[in-house]
Amino acid sequence: MTLASAPGKAILLGEHAVVYGRPAIAIPVWEVAATAEVLDDPGAPPGAIWLEAPAIELQGDLASLDPAHPLPRIVRETLYAIGVEHPAALRLRVTSTIPIASGLGSGAAVSVAIARALSQHLGVPLDPSQVSALAYAVERIHHGTPSGIDNTVVAFGRPVYFCRGEPPAPFQVGAALCLLLGDTGVAVSTSVAVGGVRERRRLNPGTYEARFDAIGTIVNEGRDCIEAGRPAELGTLMSRNHALLQEIGVSSPALDSLVQAALEAGAWGAKLSGAGLGGTMLALVPPERQEAVCQALLRAGAVHTIATQVGA
Ligand code: MEV
Repeated sequence: MTLASAPGKAILLGEHAVVYGRPAIAIPVWEVAATAEVLDDPGAPPGAIWLEAPAIELQGDLASLDPAHPLPRIVRETLYAIGVEHPAALRLRVTSTIPIASGLGSGAAVSVAIARALSQHLGVPLDPSQVSALAYAVERIHHGTPSGIDNTVVAFGRPVYFCRGEPPAPFQVGAALCLLLGDTGVAVSTSVAVGGVRERRRLNPGTYEARFDAIGTIVNEGRDCIEAGRPAELGTLMSRNHALLQEIGVSSPALDSLVQAALEAGAWGAKLSGAGLGGTMLALVPPERQEAVCQALLRAGAVHTIATQVGA
């Protein structure tokens, strides 16, 4: 039996602008994860692959499942990539504690966990950049023009400074960052959020390019703050990033209330994380304010919160 897991993710700075070539910073969120388990199935005919993912009510033989569905797709892509197109019979089970459609990278994590478990089980383990490339091909089904940041941070499992089309750059974390995620409970469609920005940019390219440039500048200043261990300044940059995300039309009343609640309870900064329109809010908090911010988020309507940390 082979087990592999992949974390959720949050975007510290730079979502949406990253689709248009600006940098972004993302972190893995190991407090939630997708797990894939691969077992030999000696009773089944050679080549048969039984796939089950109870959370999305998917189960069946690979040959009978919709080939365009993301799960059968990552299985086929992985087998093709490792050059094992007709393995001995297998059973593959996927579970996940990452809320679906919440901006936490659940789709990318499921793809990464499957590609990793399957390739390891068949004796051809893939490195993070290979796993990331396979997950990227599947992300393109979820939404046509992904930047690649979700599959990258989930496959590498460490904080990344990311520019579209380039390998992820690691960076130093000068002082530990204490972060809180608050889930609005409103399902988000990344393709709807990204498509809306694309359409508004088409109608108003100058304004949108200027906003993307401003976000890119914030990301670079944010990286300096992380490396120098200046979390309070990083928090201010996160809040400025949120204001720009509001301007490009991807926030929502539920996200704005969580941001407001976090700031009033003492967070250094807060912003939506991921595609927006719903999903998750991310706050950077002084460690001694963590409990107070967490309670404030729940009072403001968060359906659950996740505390995570970056750096030592
Ligand atoms: C989604 O986690 C991040 C977006 O920037 C989309 C992308 O980068 O592909 C909204």
